[in-house]
Amino acid sequence: MEYTRQLLESIGLEGQRLQMINLSSAMGGQFAFAAAETAPAPAKNALAAATPERDGQQVYQASCVACHDAGIAGAPKVGDRSQWAKRIAKGLDALYASAVNGVNGSAGVMPAKGGNPALSGAEVKAAVDYMVGRSR
Ligand code: HEC
Repeated sequence: MEYTRQLLESIGLEGQRLQMINLSSAMGGQFAFAAAETAPAPAKNALAAATPERDGQQVYQASCVACHDAGIAGAPKVGDRSQWAKRIAKGLDALYASAVNGVNGSAGVMPAKGGNPALSGAEVKAAVDYMVGRSR
């Protein structure tokens, strides 16, 4: 009898301890969630990728990076000011038009909208803004 009481007591205590562990891990979970909400790029990007209108950086990463990051196929390399200065001097509207309609130029061929016709004009422009912003 005494043994059973001790056993129940220890189970009861054990149960309480487990509850405390559950509570603290639940709180830990909450903190982790709050931290994820305030975390900058990665979590936000994952969410925003599901929405139809993507920002310039996301469009760039999805549809432009293949050529423009390393300067493949004659594409002006993002971040290389000397390659962009003359282009930027033409004005943003000219660059938007090139990106939306494509370019068959002296440096190479760029497909309309980077080859992704599903992009909206606004998305392409946002990507151009992003690229120009990194290249001046
Ligand atoms: C298949 C490779 C390729 C992809 C993908 C690509 N580009 Fe290009 N892009 C080029 C090439 C090549 C040029 C240079 C053409 C020339 O001037 O002869 C260029 C030029 C440009 C220019 C300068 C145009 C000008 O008038 O000087 C802009 C702006 C641009 N690209 C934006 C984009 C954007 C935005 C995307 C993504 C939506 C993209 N590109 C995707 C190959 C690419």
